[in-house]
Amino acid sequence: MSLEEEKFAGGVAVITGAGSGIGAGFARRAGAIGMHVIVADIDDAAAQAVARQIRDVSGKAEAFQLDVSQPAELDRLAHDVFDRHGSVRLLVNNAGIETLGFAWEIPVERWEKTLDVNLHGVVHGVRAFVPKMLESGAECWIGNLASVGSFGMMPTQSAYMVTKHAVQSFSECLFLEMQLKQAPIHVCSIIPGMIRTNIFNAENSAGEPDSAERFRRSMHDMMANYGMDLEEGCAVMMRGLAEGKFWVSSQPEMTADIIAGRAAFLQGQSDPAMSDQTRALVE
Ligand SMILES: NC(=O)c1ccc[n+]([C@@H]2O[C@H](COP(=O)([O-])OP(=O)(O)OC[C@H]3O[C@@H](n4cnc5c(N)ncnc54)[C@H](O)[C@@H]3O)[C@@H](O)[C@H]2O)c1
Repeated sequence: MSLEEEKFAGGVAVITGAGSGIGAGFARRAGAIGMHVIVADIDDAAAQAVARQIRDVSGKAEAFQLDVSQPAELDRLAHDVFDRHGSVRLLVNNAGIETLGFAWEIPVERWEKTLDVNLHGVVHGVRAFVPKMLESGAECWIGNLASVGSFGMMPTQSAYMVTKHAVQSFSECLFLEMQLKQAPIHVCSIIPGMIRTNIFNAENSAGEPDSAERFRRSMHDMMANYGMDLEEGCAVMMRGLAEGKFWVSSQPEMTADIIAGRAAFLQGQSDPAMSDQTRALVE
């Protein structure tokens, strides 16, 4: 039996944004190791399709339609899952969107949506589930989706970066809160490097300024050419979760490089700077 099966088989996994990309990869992996998977997504058809994929290979899964930008929807999810299943072994607050463009050109609605999905979706996932997890007293895991962007800086990506820095900070504080409470809840910061998904697809750009179009295309192509295989990345990260680590990276060397750059920047209190490669991508 693998470590993942030892820790997770027979438990319930709740994964937001599981209709596509990393959430779907986590959901399929959780199903394959014997978890009952709640595939939660704003896109009901996509969630249904992923749940069906899991059931088609003899796994257990159900779809749940929700919008993580609405705190009450996360309460509804937590209530429903605990009501019907009694416990949750793994919660992955994964749903997220990319927003590109100069900070002052991004319209109010897109700014609000980015903060609401990427940051508040994680915060309210925790707020809705943790009291019930604490009450159950069982060992469980919460993985919040940060990014290598949590440690970097990038012009025309401020809306996304600010949410990912904030999620990293939130997970660090939450980890300490669990320590204070002596709670059997592992808090993990999940840090994908670059994994091939739909996040930079043109259909996800509604509300972005026109000036962001070229950058989105460049990022899309870079991900398609150099991104890690989705299922492989999710297998690596699922193993990291099972090991109970705080730092769960798909590409640990990339994470280490970016953190080393940030540490040097902070230590030197130097001006923000970008590489020629970054400049070429965004100009
Ligand atoms: N792909 C990468 O290389 C990468 C790198 C770093 C971090 N991440 C993070 O991983 C997470 C998943 O990204 P992905 O690349 O798989 O993207 P993706 O676009 O392929 O999938 C995101 C999923 O979230 C869902 N979603 C969007 N808004 C939602 C909402 N309001 N409520 C519920 N579901 C919603 C979408 O319908 C979609 O199914 C995000 O938090 C992203 O920031 C990804």
